[in-house]
Amino acid sequence: MRDNAQMSLPPGFLDELRNRLSLGQVVGRKVMWDTRKSNQGKGDLWAPCPFHQEKTASFHVDDRKGFYYCFGCHAKGDAISFVRETENVDFMEAVKILAGEAGMPVPERDPQAQEKADARTVLVDVMEQAVQYHRLQLQTGAASEARDYLARRGLSLEAQTRWEIGFAPANGGVMAHLTGKGVDAKLVMDAGLAAESDRGGAPYDRFRGRIMFPIRDARGRAIGFGGRAMDPNHPAKYYNSPETPLFDKGRSLYNHGPAREAAGKGKPLVVAEGYMDVIALSEAGFTATVAPLGTAITEDQLRLMWRMAPEPIIALDGDKAGVRAAMRVIDIALPLLEAGQSLRFALMPEGMDPDDLIKAQGAGAMQKLLDQATPMVQLLWQRETEGKVFDSPERKAALDKALREKINLIKDPSIRNHYGQAIKDMRWALFSNRKPTTVRKSGGRGWNPKQDPWQRDVSPVASSRTSALAAGTEDQEHLREAVILATLIAAPSVAMEFETALEQLDSRDPMHRDLQASVLRHLGADDLRAQIIGDLGDAPLEKLFAQNHVAISPAIRRDGDIDIARLCLAEEFAKLVARRGHAREIEDAVEDLNGVADEGLTWRLAQASEALDKAGRGDNEDRAEYAVGKNGARMKKDEQSAFDQLLDQINFAKGADRPKS
Ligand code: UTP
Ligand code: MN
Repeated sequence: MRDNAQMSLPPGFLDELRNRLSLGQVVGRKVMWDTRKSNQGKGDLWAPCPFHQEKTASFHVDDRKGFYYCFGCHAKGDAISFVRETENVDFMEAVKILAGEAGMPVPERDPQAQEKADARTVLVDVMEQAVQYHRLQLQTGAASEARDYLARRGLSLEAQTRWEIGFAPANGGVMAHLTGKGVDAKLVMDAGLAAESDRGGAPYDRFRGRIMFPIRDARGRAIGFGGRAMDPNHPAKYYNSPETPLFDKGRSLYNHGPAREAAGKGKPLVVAEGYMDVIALSEAGFTATVAPLGTAITEDQLRLMWRMAPEPIIALDGDKAGVRAAMRVIDIALPLLEAGQSLRFALMPEGMDPDDLIKAQGAGAMQKLLDQATPMVQLLWQRETEGKVFDSPERKAALDKALREKINLIKDPSIRNHYGQAIKDMRWALFSNRKPTTVRKSGGRGWNPKQDPWQRDVSPVASSRTSALAAGTEDQEHLREAVILATLIAAPSVAMEFETALEQLDSRDPMHRDLQASVLRHLGADDLRAQIIGDLGDAPLEKLFAQNHVAISPAIRRDGDIDIARLCLAEEFAKLVARRGHAREIEDAVEDLNGVADEGLTWRLAQASEALDKAGRGDNEDRAEYAVGKNGARMKKDEQSAFDQLLDQINFAKGADRPKS
């Protein structure tokens, strides 16, 4: 039960507190989750009940809704009641404890707050009367044009009733109506329904000659209106209620309550741009649809959405403004991303909004777009690459920088890594002009660039690589590629460290390309060989390992020696880079190897080099031609300087010359 104390908190304080808290975290300190029964990602948590003795897990927490319920003892409540019960404190104490955790200062007891809360209750009542007034007006003779308009837009009478659509007559009337019923004129103005005129005359009704869409908060209280002009040439198509003690646009969503309920029942949460889109989508069965209220989507609104669903789909109008809006959403969303808290984007066909699409092509077409919704990372990539040409190292570097800056906005380290990886995949696909590795065989929702609506206008132009290599050199490079691939396959645990280098390996042999793609696809798998055979059959692996120079290469001969494999890979990649010799590729390699250098590349290379010394070299290799580089690695003399240069750059990039043990 709530006590009166809460009434002295400022309006919205408790909602904000509940929004910021994770009930799962609060409860998690007192219980041991049943990990098998729980579904963390969905915020669906189970544990033995803290309120009664039991061994089974009948205590359920719905982290998204912020409620708990015990199926055994029927204890139920929210974070505040949980703390009250378990800490045996009163309401305000519980609020203080939780507010402390949420980083919200608890305001001192404020006698005015009580008045404000009461004033809000009064305003809610005024707004409710206004909703009913406008609905009645829609039935009058003066509203025939409005009714025709709604009919033309395909809104059935049932739908009009469901959405409580109303009409504000050309000369207004809400002030006269409400004051006639004894409501204080000041309250009508406080509710945002009327305003003081500039010239100090009588207050005028804000909404005139408009179709009225009531806006309710999550608990169903009427807090504002959107009013649409019927004249297509009217300069202000929509008027919305101003900010009032009830109406905080940035923290409200159109259709919040019904959408939250539908999302809770598993409907995908769709975010549209406008009132009519929400109505059309909901009427077509997409009942978990919300929209912001005449402003760009705010951080608070994103938080509200994530409390309803882990991956809302932003459905945007198929015009430039829609795409711009998507980009703004990305910028707001990046710092807020967490596990189970992301976005997808569905772009409507050119010049259409969801309402138009459903009218023209039906709910099926909409469903299809939602199914194909683009993950946020893809859109981020698209924004930075669309219509641009990356034909110089400088341009590529600029792209990398821009993307890195965006990714660095992500606070969650795990998500940041995954974004980095996904971007690397796309980068590889772009610059090598091949299939991206993100397109996996499994998972029907995989992104396909050909289907991707965001790709329809301009696809980025990849630079083409030209080979100016002599035939003899190519043979040698072919051998190196074979050794690299064989070593990666023989030592899958090391392979991860060379992922980016492998991505950028410009294999010239189609079989090598297949192997490269397959290794990349299954990187990290213990049974890499089996996976490759699954992809390509037995033949390529047999052919690869049957080659003489592969069979005799140190890492293959000393199968299982990870240090040798690592050294061999570092050396072979470096040699290829040196051979292919473009500054750009050295730059790329430096970046690739940065990850390795993190763990002290030079140190490990030195260690591995010793191991290799002990292990001895293949007889066919001419010892005399080798020298020991700065790092202790051995290589052909003419390649040494390139490799040393590479290591210098790595160390420079790392800003440290001493590896951390
Ligand atoms: P749209 O013009 O896309 O709205 O603006 P809509 O709902 O599809 O409108 P119809 O189909 O033409 O009736 C999207 C939202 O932007 C706000 C409104 O909230 C609208 O729903 N808006 C738009 C305004 O606040 N003022 C305007 O003048 C226009
Ligand atoms: Mn529209």
